[in-house]
Amino acid sequence: MSTASRDLASLRVLIVGCGNIAGGFDQGRVAGHLPSTHAGAYMRDGRFDLLACVEPDDKRRGEFMAAWGVATGFQTIEEALASGKQFDVISICSPTECHAHDLEMALSLQPKLIFCEKPLTTSVTENQRLLEECAQLNIRLAINYTRRWDAEISTLHANMQAGRWGQLRSVMGYYNKGVLNNGSHMVDLLHLLVGAMEIVKVGKPIHDFFANDPTVPVWLEGASGIPVMLACGHAEDYAIFELQLVFSVGMVIMEEGGLFWRERAVLDSGTFKGYRVLDAGVRRVGQYPGAMLNAADNIYRAIQQGDLLASSGESALAAQDMCEKIKQQAYNVKE
Ligand SMILES: NC(=O)c1ccc[n+]([C@@H]2O[C@H](COP(=O)([O-])OP(=O)(O)OC[C@H]3O[C@@H](n4cnc5c(N)ncnc54)[C@H](O)[C@@H]3O)[C@@H](O)[C@H]2O)c1
Repeated sequence: MSTASRDLASLRVLIVGCGNIAGGFDQGRVAGHLPSTHAGAYMRDGRFDLLACVEPDDKRRGEFMAAWGVATGFQTIEEALASGKQFDVISICSPTECHAHDLEMALSLQPKLIFCEKPLTTSVTENQRLLEECAQLNIRLAINYTRRWDAEISTLHANMQAGRWGQLRSVMGYYNKGVLNNGSHMVDLLHLLVGAMEIVKVGKPIHDFFANDPTVPVWLEGASGIPVMLACGHAEDYAIFELQLVFSVGMVIMEEGGLFWRERAVLDSGTFKGYRVLDAGVRRVGQYPGAMLNAADNIYRAIQQGDLLASSGESALAAQDMCEKIKQQAYNVKE
């Protein structure tokens, strides 16, 4: 096939690791739902060809291939390399501890773009090295900090930039299940909305799920001293990922990871004469379920038209760098 006709064809995809985020979350769901997985987003988009997958577990690999109509399955990524097949996009959906190795192998396969699950690897140093390798080989790198593709977040960001909410006064976030695992989602989102932040103080580490990735309460400070507080739930109780942004002209609240939103406007108090207070707001459905489909579109356009990636290796590195510092400081907190 000539280069010109190849460019017009579907993008050839290899998925590495066939668990929940690869496709499992979407398997067995009702037709027509918005996808929350890599396979689901590629299939629904229609401009990708899911050519092959890698999965060491035979049963899981077979189920994944059947569910998504994948013709070729490999037990290891080394087998994929030995096959001589070529791919435009490689999705890394293996467990986090496997990412560094799988990314290194994926680079040998010379795709146009790698779409890696978060966190990129378990170490900032390793991330830096891999980012340099990607740049040298001219391979684009997108990291699945999914909210960067959530249209609701993009609108909020644009509104904040345009001053629609007035001055940002403070931010309160809630998360659990690991400062790197889920905290990096929060820090990445805050980097987008608030910008660069400094660590003011960290609290005691809470071991609520991963032995080597505690959940840590932390007080951060954005530009002009804006306080950003991250408080923690406990992963054994329930999942929590929520944000409250206090502005001079109201409050914006993200609930259930962005599935729901509430805006609270300022009004005169009906109880205390002369005071202004916040109304209750109305809970409305957000656009988070469309984020993976937006990611697939961004990836397609990044490859075909050179578009910028909403979530890149660089932005992911900045988030992980901060999470690693929070974790290091938390281990030094006196009991
Ligand atoms: N972006 C998000 O919101 C989000 C959500 C869930 C998971 N994740 C990330 O996705 C990754 C996978 O999580 P998951 O929940 O899908 O896990 P999972 O356990 O459901 O799936 C991982 C799969 O990878 C397979 N595997 C193990 N070693 C492998 C290897 N060397 N090569 C290829 N496959 C291998 C396992 O057998 C398993 O099927 C993690 O890095 C996690 O942090 C991100």
